[in-house]
Amino acid sequence: MKQLVILASGSGSNAENIVKYFEHDKTVQISHILTNNPKAGVIERANRLGIPCKVFTKKEFKEENTILNFLINNKIDLIILAGFLWLVPVKLVRSFHHKIINIHPALLPKYGGKGMYGNHIHQVIVENKEEESGITIHYVNEKYDDGDIILQKKCSVLPSDSANDVARKVHQLEYKYFPKVIEELLKH
Ligand code: GAR
Repeated sequence: MKQLVILASGSGSNAENIVKYFEHDKTVQISHILTNNPKAGVIERANRLGIPCKVFTKKEFKEENTILNFLINNKIDLIILAGFLWLVPVKLVRSFHHKIINIHPALLPKYGGKGMYGNHIHQVIVENKEEESGITIHYVNEKYDDGDIILQKKCSVLPSDSANDVARKVHQLEYKYFPKVIEELLKH
């Protein structure tokens, strides 16, 4: 049985979508959902879905190796960042080489880096009159949004689209492709 952990900082709609996708898969278990944000909506989702959920502090994540040790002790096969906003410490990246993946709501390398997340990106996309946006699923390295790209999918951005319209299109791509990419990676 492959063990997965999801890290999320916010609402957690991707986390929920992934949990539901693997609900009846006997080869995959979502071991835990972990969050740095005690107010994150993902906590309520985890409770409702019956997935153990832990909140951790910056010190536990960056200095004390609490999360690193937790992931090692639980023999986690794949770590999924689904709307997780902190930079992953180098030690964790090195210990789980090519076993941490992130989803980014834009077409990297455009609109990536520190501070580029969630609705803020969609707002900038609209302001810049971009004609397309999309999603990037990539491996995580020690920099923000910089690791090897696994998959990108595009959507159109119309002149009449608001940031919310772009968010909706991007979320649709995320819900469709993120679980499938995870499933594929688990086969190797
Ligand atoms: C998603 O759109 C994800 O791509 C984005 O945050 C959103 C979380 O939504 N991630 C980033 O911006 C990372 N830089 P959710 O909490 O509803 O899954």
